[in-house]
Amino acid sequence: MQLNWLISKIDSDTPTGATIVAFDNNELVGSLTMSLSEPAGFVRSLFVAEAARGRGVGRRLLSRALQICHAGGRTGLALSVKDSNTAAQQLYKSFDFVPHAVGNEGYTKYIHVFR
Ligand SMILES: CC(C)(COP(=O)(O)OP(=O)(O)OC[C@H]1O[C@@H](n2cnc3c(N)ncnc32)[C@H](O)[C@@H]1OP(=O)(O)O)[C@@H](O)C(=O)NCCC(=O)NCCS
Repeated sequence: MQLNWLISKIDSDTPTGATIVAFDNNELVGSLTMSLSEPAGFVRSLFVAEAARGRGVGRRLLSRALQICHAGGRTGLALSVKDSNTAAQQLYKSFDFVPHAVGNEGYTKYIHVFR
């Protein structure tokens, strides 16, 4: 599996966001997009193709997102997840994300803080 990523900078050298894509044999199997405009990064979307789930793609995308945030001096990485989405919650908890705020309409905000 191969990971590629793109960091966007709109009108200065300050990164505003990043997208990471995962390929398996030239097939796009997953992506993660995050905003980098605040002190902590924020995951806007994480998606793995149904046929590729359960093989570590989500884990690798999130791991790379954390590396990018850490290397860029962010305070951490945050995200919002639906309370019924147990697969995503398990993934985030395994990376030491902790709940830190109640979101809207059945969503909870989680954060991983760099120490
Ligand atoms: C959530 C999602 C990104 C996980 O991607 P994935 O590539 O299947 O996950 P991985 O194979 O890397 O699994 C990593 C961990 O996630 C958790 N996990 C993944 N699928 C799970 C499931 N069906 N049930 C419970 N836990 C699950 C486990 O903790 C797993 O670790 P383990 O393999 O050691 O048990 C994927 O299911 C998906 O795209 N879902 C639809 C979109 C979505 O919900 N995105 C997140 C929005 S916040």
